[in-house]
Amino acid sequence: MNLGNSDKWAKWIHEDRFAKNDEFAQRLTNVATRIRDQILVAASIQLEDHVLDVATGNGLLGLGALKYLNKNGRVYLTDISLENLKSCAKTIQELQEESRVSLHQIDCEELDEGEGDSIDVILSRGILPYLVDKEKYFLDCYNILRSGGRLSGHEPLNSFVLKNKPKYNLYGFDLSLIKKVADKIIQKNIEVQGNLRDLMLDYTEHSLFSNLINVGFSSVQINLQSSYSHLTIFPDVQSVLKYVPNPNAWSLERIAETVLSNEEKDTLVKHIKGLLANGQVRKYNASIFYAAYKK
Ligand SMILES: C[S@@+](CC[C@H](N)C(=O)[O-])C[C@H]1O[C@@H](n2cnc3c(N)ncnc32)[C@H](O)[C@@H]1O
Repeated sequence: MNLGNSDKWAKWIHEDRFAKNDEFAQRLTNVATRIRDQILVAASIQLEDHVLDVATGNGLLGLGALKYLNKNGRVYLTDISLENLKSCAKTIQELQEESRVSLHQIDCEELDEGEGDSIDVILSRGILPYLVDKEKYFLDCYNILRSGGRLSGHEPLNSFVLKNKPKYNLYGFDLSLIKKVADKIIQKNIEVQGNLRDLMLDYTEHSLFSNLINVGFSSVQINLQSSYSHLTIFPDVQSVLKYVPNPNAWSLERIAETVLSNEEKDTLVKHIKGLLANGQVRKYNASIFYAAYKK
């Protein structure tokens, strides 16, 4: 797929997050599929439900919901990115699901406008880190759900990871032995993401729990999943270098090319290669599943 001229989200969804590596892409997709299945189970989807997938990306959640619906059930895929919706349209055509699935270009920071309370289930994943007002998002979700409606989602908890991991741990690789190189990378990484990085860190499991209760849901569940592991999702050093963690960030390779000398780049690559070869990964991870019910 050539996405040269399309928006930053489509390029990231279809290309950059996969690090130009098929094995990595497959591993990432497997993780996403497992998360999707948990989100769908927690949503208790009924046969004729109207299901809204907010910020759908490639349709992962909404299209996954189809198997729970009969012919009267409906799925609405929404996203801010037209390119993402166009790519979903192709998938819908291939699946011959035009009668049950529709596409809508909606900014989820304005979700509540004109929707009414017509939705049975809202699904979302990977959107909160990009929203300025997380509680308003939940309030909008609450407002467009009909009575008896459910909200089910999953989000990374970057604030939890940042609190726990050592400063020089990057993607699970300990760069403390090459501090001079690491400092340059860390500083550039913060600089390129600017204020958008703050949004990724400005919520916790506690704040989300309160947000969901504050907006009126009568039943709220959150499940924090945190891990520390010697396993890595990266198959090789090239995938580490080419991976772009979010559309506002740069790959390690791009950062290295900008701030490191050739010698420093070699040091970085050799160091990560060595850690991978010796199984010396120390990966910190945290995320949250949440489900809420509107009485
Ligand atoms: C991390 S991806 C998650 C995609 C999908 N939910 C998944 O689970 O794979 C975030 C998605 O949010 C969309 N997005 C970003 N900002 C948005 C906004 N303000 N309103 C609606 N969609 C947005 C992007 O286009 C992208 O598809």
